[in-house]
Amino acid sequence: MAPPALAAQPIAPEQLAPLETVLRSATPEQLTWLAGYVAGFRAAGAPRPAAPAQAARAKLTILYATESGNAETLANAARKAAQRLGFAPRLLDMADATPAMLTEAERLLVIASTWGEGDPPQRAEAFYAALLAETAPRLAGLRFAVLALGDRAYVNFCETGRRIDARLAELGAERLRPVGECDLDYAAPARAWTEAVLDALAPPAEPGADVIRVDFARAAPAADAPASATAILTEKVRLNSSRSSAETWHLEVSLDGTGLSYEPGDAIGIAARNDPALVAEVVAATGREGDAALAEALTDRYDITTLTPPMVAAYAALTGRAEGFAVAGRQVIDLLAEGGVPLSTEQLTGLLRPLPPRLYSAASAPEAADAAVHLLVSAVRWESHGRRRSGVVSVDLADRRAVGAPLSVHVKPNPHFRLPAEPDRPIVMIGPGTGVAPFRGFMQRREATGASGRSWLFFGARQFTHDFLYQLEWQDWLRAGVLSRLDLAFSRDQPEKIYVQDRIRAAGPELWRWLADGAAVYVCGDAKAMARDVHAALLDVIAAGLGKDADAAAEWLRAAQRDGRYKRDVY
Ligand SMILES: Cc1cc2nc3c(=O)[nH]c(=O)nc-3n(C[C@H](O)[C@H](O)[C@H](O)COP(=O)(O)OP(=O)(O)OC[C@H]3O[C@@H](n4cnc5c(N)ncnc54)[C@H](O)[C@@H]3O)c2cc1C
Ligand SMILES: Cc1cc2nc3c(=O)[nH]c(=O)nc-3n(C[C@H](O)[C@H](O)[C@H](O)COP(=O)(O)O)c2cc1C
Repeated sequence: MAPPALAAQPIAPEQLAPLETVLRSATPEQLTWLAGYVAGFRAAGAPRPAAPAQAARAKLTILYATESGNAETLANAARKAAQRLGFAPRLLDMADATPAMLTEAERLLVIASTWGEGDPPQRAEAFYAALLAETAPRLAGLRFAVLALGDRAYVNFCETGRRIDARLAELGAERLRPVGECDLDYAAPARAWTEAVLDALAPPAEPGADVIRVDFARAAPAADAPASATAILTEKVRLNSSRSSAETWHLEVSLDGTGLSYEPGDAIGIAARNDPALVAEVVAATGREGDAALAEALTDRYDITTLTPPMVAAYAALTGRAEGFAVAGRQVIDLLAEGGVPLSTEQLTGLLRPLPPRLYSAASAPEAADAAVHLLVSAVRWESHGRRRSGVVSVDLADRRAVGAPLSVHVKPNPHFRLPAEPDRPIVMIGPGTGVAPFRGFMQRREATGASGRSWLFFGARQFTHDFLYQLEWQDWLRAGVLSRLDLAFSRDQPEKIYVQDRIRAAGPELWRWLADGAAVYVCGDAKAMARDVHAALLDVIAAGLGKDADAAAEWLRAAQRDGRYKRDVY
C-alpha cells in the first residue's frame, strides 16, 4: 500500500522533505520504532519549534532599492531576522522586480535609498517609474512598511522611500507603520524599525498556542559595520600643474597588514577628521573655549559642518534663538554664531549627527599596486556667506595628512561596477575629472590579465596642459593596445566649452558599432550635471544607431542597464 500523502498535514513543505526521505527509506521495524519514539518525544515535552507554525507559513517579500549596497545589506539582515522568526521571506532587488509582482504578495517590506537629488537608485528607476505611473496595478490586500535611507544633508531627504510609501497606500495597500526615515547612521534605527515591522506582520497566534519569544538581538543582526583598519598614506602627489585652478591628489595607501582587499570598481571609505581650526571655532562659539574633551569629541565623532532644518529647529527649541535660520549655503558654525548662546557639551553634541566617512573610488588594481590602493581625490573648497569653507575629508587629505600618516579605512565593495566577466567584451569608460579613477584600476586589471576586449576612454577636464590626470599612463596604454581609443574633452582650451558628452555625440556612429557589438558602458564621476548630460548623449547616439525615436533609445538603454551593460557610479 502506498504511504499516505504527507503534504496534507500541518507541516511546512521544507519540513516535509527530510522527513519523507527518512520515512520512505525506513524498514517496517524502523517505522514501528520511530512511531514509538515520536510519541515518547511528545510526551516528554519536546522542545517547541523556534516559531509558531502560523508564522512559519507567512510569506514575506523584502524589496530593496540600492545604489551603494546599504539597503541591500539591511534587506539581507531583515531576511535573516524574518527567517528566524518563522516567516518564509523572499528577497527581491527592485532592479529585477515589477509592480505586477506585488499583486500576489500579502506582506511587503521595502528598503529604499535616495540618490541624485531625490532620485531612486539607478537600477531601481524602471520599477519606480512603473509604480508611480497611472498604469500601476491596484495593491489592495497587501500590507506594507517602507524603510527609507538617506542623508539629511540633502534637501530631498529620503524622497524615494517617502514616495514609494505614499504610492503603495494610494494603490490600496495597507500601511503598517509610518515610513521609517534613516540618516547616514542608519544601523540602530533600521534594526528597531525591522523589529517593529516584523512584529506587526506576524500573524496572530492561534488561541492556546504557545507564545514564542525570540531574542531579536540574535534574530536581527545589525547590518554589519564594515571592517575598518589603520592604513598608512605612502604617497601623495598633486596631479594638476601649479597653474591649474583644480586641485586633484593622487594618494597611495598601503593596506599591508590590514587584512583588507578590494577589486577595481570598489570604493575605499576614509574616516573623517574635522579641521582643528573649525573645531576650535565651534568650541568657542558655544562658550566652551579651552574645553579639550569637547574638542577631542568634535574632532572625529561629530559632524560639525552639515546644517539641516531639524537641527535649526532643535537649536531654536533649546535656546529660543535663530528660529527659521535659513540653512542654504550655511553650516553649523553659522548657526552657533547667529544664536550666540552658550551650550553644554550634551546640548551641543545632542544637536549634531555622527561624522560619516567619505568614499573614494579605488584608482588601482591590487595586483598593480603592491599591497596598496591608489585614490584620486579632488580637494573641495568654496566660499559662501562670506566664509571660506572646506570639504572635511578631501581638504584634510590635501592639507593636513602627510606621507606616513595613519588613515582609518574600510572597503566598500561595489559588485555592480566591475569589469565584465568576459575578458573579450569591449568596454566604454566615461570618466571626466576624478571619475577616471576606477578606469585606471580597470586598465591595470586588463593589462595584468591580458584581456583581449577593446577599451575606449572618454576623459575630460579643464585644460590639457594642467589637468590631464594620469596622462602618460593613458598614452602608454594606448600605445600598448591595452586602451584602444582615447577621446579627450578639455573644456577651457578653446573659446567654446567642450565636454565628454560632446565627444560622445561626435563619435556617435563608431560608438554605436561598439554598443551593437555588446560593449559595456561605464560612467563615473559627477552626478549632478555630467551623468545626466552623458545619459542624454548616449540616448542620441543610440536613437541614431537604431534609426528610431527617443523612446526606443531609452528602452534600449534600460535593457542594457538590466543586462549589466550600462553601469554608473556617480556621486
Ligand atoms: C561611491 C563614491 C565614490 C567617490 N569617489 C570619489 C573619488 O574617486 N574622488 C573624489 O574626489 N571624490 C569621490 N567621491 C566623493 C567623496 O566621497 C566626497 O563626497 C568628496 O570628497 C567631498 O567630501 P569632503 O568631506 O571633502 O566634503 P564635505 O565636507 O562632505 O563637503 C561637501 C559638501 O559641501 C557642499 N559644497 C561643496 N562645494 C560647494 C560649493 N561650491 N558651494 C556650496 N556648497 C558646496 C556640498 O553640500 C557638498 O556635498 C565619491 C563618492 C562616492 C559616493
Ligand atoms: C551622490 C549622492 C546623492 C545622494 N542623494 C540623496 C538625496 O537626494 N536624498 C537623500 O536623502 N539621500 C541622498 N544620498 C544619501 C544616500 O541615500 C545614503 O548614503 C544611503 O545610505 C545610500 O544607501 P544605498 O547604499 O542602499 O544606496 C545621496 C548620496 C550620494 C552619495
